[in-house]
Amino acid sequence: MKRIENEMKLRLPAKSENEGAARSAVSAFVAILNPTVEELGDIRLAVSEAVTNAIVHAYGGDGEGLIYISVRLYSDREITVEISDKGCGIEDVERAKEPFYTTGSGEERCGMGFLVMQTFTDALSVKSKVGRGTTVLMRKKLHP
Ligand SMILES: Nc1ncnc2c1ncn2[C@@H]1O[C@H](COP(=O)(O)OP(=O)(O)OP(=O)(O)O)[C@@H](O)[C@H]1O
Ligand SMILES: [Mg+2]
Repeated sequence: MKRIENEMKLRLPAKSENEGAARSAVSAFVAILNPTVEELGDIRLAVSEAVTNAIVHAYGGDGEGLIYISVRLYSDREITVEISDKGCGIEDVERAKEPFYTTGSGEERCGMGFLVMQTFTDALSVKSKVGRGTTVLMRKKLHP
């Protein structure tokens, strides 16, 4: 049976400058397992997308609210990254995951965030309740 070998928990205000901080903190912790440059890049991308979604969509971009991040390193070199918010939630998760679906206004959002998370990790699960918040869980198995 695989065990959790190591775990990091982070709680950050949903400010845009914390997107880079979250990405760096998660990648510094995952670096304990000596991932390849590519694996680390994949994780950084996926974390960026999830954290940006919490900042922009869950809390509406005004810097209010908290983002909860939990990273677990398992004995079989699987890692999980869970990113949660207590923001507005998503009405239809399946639709939100479709490429190009966005509720964002302006040119910055193109509806590719969930696709990026799915593409650069081994598994993505999204749980959400309207008015309660969203939890994104990503898994990735690192090279042996
Ligand atoms: N944490 C969240 N809270 C509330 N709604 C969310 C959250 N994450 C995603 N969404 C909803 O899902 C949609 C799709 O998210 P996705 O990341 O795929 O695209 P996007 O954020 O709109 O654009 P992009 O990521 O390409 O900038 C968002 O437009 C938003 O409506
Ligand atoms: Mg997004």
